[in-house]
Amino acid sequence: MSVVVLISGRGSNLQALLDAGIPVVAVISNRADAAGLALAARRGVAAAVVEHRKFPTREAFDAALATEIDRHRPRLVALAGFMRVLTPGFVERYAGRLVNIHPSLLPEYPGLDTHARALAAGARRHGCTVHFVTAQLDHGPIIAQASVPVLAGDTPESLAARVLRQEHLLYPRAIRWFLDDALVIEGERVRVKGNHAQMVASDQS
Ligand code: GRF
Repeated sequence: MSVVVLISGRGSNLQALLDAGIPVVAVISNRADAAGLALAARRGVAAAVVEHRKFPTREAFDAALATEIDRHRPRLVALAGFMRVLTPGFVERYAGRLVNIHPSLLPEYPGLDTHARALAAGARRHGCTVHFVTAQLDHGPIIAQASVPVLAGDTPESLAARVLRQEHLLYPRAIRWFLDDALVIEGERVRVKGNHAQMVASDQS
């Protein structure tokens, strides 16, 4: 039933997962200075660092990462602010049990700086997406999304904060569905068994 969480930084989504009682057995960071490592330690969760800079190639880094992950025999690997592009081989190894949270309403704004890009485009709504990971960056079958309004006077920071509050609600819910065997992947689409909303529209600011 266990989950390994991969992080690179702050770890607020990790915290949301822990607070929601998601059975996180280990946290792995590619950066030794990730604040989420200290959080894991405070919560008594095993934490490890696999520094990407110490490996000559992406393949070598991903192989070391996989070795560290597999020690814990997780059912699910969850990316939570993990800022490395994964190789197709790594993605294939965890196919169907590797998920990510991305701060946009995919397929809009894959990649970085999503909040600034949504503002620049004049978007009226923005949000976040939990999806299965495929070899194509920020693509893959969508499990759940939450949208928020874009307000007059928003900055990338204010918009990011509004989205982040929804991330912290959405990610635990989506992972719980996975652990409860409620997710059915049908081609490019994901269905949730039972009467669960896969799109949440928040009007909170
Ligand atoms: C979140 O916005 C997440 O969607 C994105 O990176 C950020 C990570 O934040 N992938 P945190 O480390 O979970 O606080």
